Amino acid sequence: MKTVFIKDLPNHVGEEVTIQGWMFNKRGSGKLWFLELRDGTGIVQGVVFSKDPDNDPLFQKAGSLTIESSLRITGKVSKHPKLENTYELQISNIDIVQISADYPIGKKEHGPDFLLENRHLWLRSRKQRAIQVVRNTVINAIYEFLNQNNFSKIDSPILTPNACEGTTTLFEIEYFDLGKAYLSQSGQLYLEAAIFSLGRVFDFGPVFRAEKSKTRRHLTEFWMMDAEAAFVEHEENMKIQEDLILHIIKRVLEKNLAELTTLERDIEPLKKIASPFIRMTHAEAMKEVREMGSQTPADHDLGGEDETLLTKKYDQPIFVEKYPAKVKAFYMKRDPKNPDLVLCADLLAPEGYGEIVGGSQREDDYDTLLARINEHKLPVAEFQWYLDLRRYGSVPHSGFGIGLERLVGWLCGRKHIRETIPFPRTIGRLRP
Ligand code: 4AD
Ligand code: MG
Repeated sequence: MKTVFIKDLPNHVGEEVTIQGWMFNKRGSGKLWFLELRDGTGIVQGVVFSKDPDNDPLFQKAGSLTIESSLRITGKVSKHPKLENTYELQISNIDIVQISADYPIGKKEHGPDFLLENRHLWLRSRKQRAIQVVRNTVINAIYEFLNQNNFSKIDSPILTPNACEGTTTLFEIEYFDLGKAYLSQSGQLYLEAAIFSLGRVFDFGPVFRAEKSKTRRHLTEFWMMDAEAAFVEHEENMKIQEDLILHIIKRVLEKNLAELTTLERDIEPLKKIASPFIRMTHAEAMKEVREMGSQTPADHDLGGEDETLLTKKYDQPIFVEKYPAKVKAFYMKRDPKNPDLVLCADLLAPEGYGEIVGGSQREDDYDTLLARINEHKLPVAEFQWYLDLRRYGSVPHSGFGIGLERLVGWLCGRKHIRETIPFPRTIGRLRP
């Protein structure tokens, strides 16, 4: 018997095939059982019909199946009598792999704590699976775009001797006789070294922030794609990000309409996203949100609430450029037109989502960078290698980092980004 995936059933109409998976749901009446079966690639309805149900072993077997029982099912593939593009399996054999114990996640509403405690099981449900499928599309689209645009993947270390994004969110560990090590907050500084070898590079991996914030946007472990390019300045840096985001949206709309429907995601706002994205300076953004009632001082970073206000107002992503130097990282290059500002941009996603990408042009002058490291009271000795990059053939260069979960959260229309990572880590959650 041929074993096939549920997604391929349309190619096997009229044939007898076997599928392997789990029972998602079951309903029946008298002489009929309808079994909803899933195998990771899709869901199909299997039908068992009997004229004499009481004396039919197959019918009895179907009746004994509990939710999430694992099985191999054989049957003839047919087109659904009423629904377009829907297929059924006329079941001729059921091979039970394991009868599932009473499954704790049911059809009734569960609170988020219960679901998160049972994340190892919750991952199987329809919406959670759909989010992971979209996440996979996003990851592949990022690789595809960057490879097509001359970026090489290079892996940056997770264990590092110094901070990248400020010292307040560092996870610290004891590192044998060498003192303290920190979990990487971003691979950026290492990518900066790699551009001198490969020109354009990216990494993609887990990063860590000891974030005390309990917001719907913050995880302590999340996945970041950092990209870095030699001879790219601030304007071109934003253009690369814009093209990348457009490419990702295109792929998700091509490949994941079924998943977005499962998620009840209105896709009209995504279809509207087009070049050019909105651009405004930090000063302009602050003026707008303060006019909308924000209490954030004009020279501070935009708060989460400010980003929500701003991104509900526009239906395109917004590049907020040129933040005050004092609220941003030490490595950002000063704006030659105003040394109080830096040549950076955060990309904010619409519909209230807020920051999904952070990027900037980097300081490429040795003396200026050394002064910034001192101003930020960072240990100069640990940054000698990074300063070296400004001694041996320094070039203008820029880069950016995408938070994968924030991006997927927006595309999938999820309220909280914890649903977008298989096993979320937040200030209050380390298990399962
Ligand atoms: O803005 P961030 O802190 O920028 C950097 O780390 C740069 N070194 C990146 C670079 O230029 N190569 O982080 C980048 C992105 C943010 O825009 C956001 O999407 C995400 O990472 N991010 C978080 N996502 C989830 N939980 C958190 N605690 C996050 N902090 C940042
Ligand atoms: Mg940022």
